[in-house]
Amino acid sequence: MSPTTSAVARPARILGIGGTQRSSSSSNRLLRAALGSCRARGAEVELIAADQLEFSMYDPPYPGGDPAVDRYLSAVRAADCLIVATPGYHGGVSGLLKNALDFLQELAGDDRPYLDDKAVGCIVAAAGWQAAVSTLAALRSTVHALRGWPTPLGVTVNSSVPPVDPEGRVTDPHLVRQLDVLADQLTGFARRRADGASAVALA
Ligand SMILES: Cc1cc2nc3c(=O)[nH]c(=O)nc-3n(C[C@H](O)[C@H](O)[C@H](O)COP(=O)(O)O)c2cc1C
Repeated sequence: MSPTTSAVARPARILGIGGTQRSSSSSNRLLRAALGSCRARGAEVELIAADQLEFSMYDPPYPGGDPAVDRYLSAVRAADCLIVATPGYHGGVSGLLKNALDFLQELAGDDRPYLDDKAVGCIVAAAGWQAAVSTLAALRSTVHALRGWPTPLGVTVNSSVPPVDPEGRVTDPHLVRQLDVLADQLTGFARRRADGASAVALA
């Protein structure tokens, strides 16, 4: 079986990356719900939670030897699409997440550098709408700089209006719908990319 054919046959691989270790984090709960929605659409999903991103500060070039960094870089390389979730901290993404995104500089020399040809769903939680939206714009700018494709829909939540029930389930039907649309956009992107690769190979 050619690599192109297997790309069409296998499920889309979607990697979720969390931006905070806060136990009752809204952004993490939305991230898990979005990954669940992707799984319900037939995708294989993987989560790298914030506690797996406790790297030293990126100081290029990365000399290697940190298993957590190596696992993270491998997971990003293997993913067709990503979902990145972050709290809004003073108008931008969390420092922990930004450091992890800076480590993607290590993918600069790959055949598909950085996040090239990968759709990226962005999720932001902040204590107010203004910070949520400005942080979404900041996260999308970083994804663009990494050659990724932010999905048309980014999901923002105002955590001062709790979006989840005490068990952590997303309860707001509008938010549930938004997470489903995000999952549709990611899995659709992965499918079209695989179909496009097949069409090129057959031409
Ligand atoms: C360091 C720090 C900076 C923050 N800055 C802002 C801010 O500028 N605007 C805002 O609305 N909320 C701000 N917040 C509140 C968080 O965005 C809010 O608590 C959010 O729900 C955190 O995401 P999480 O629920 O996923 O942990 C800040 C919180 C922290 C800890």
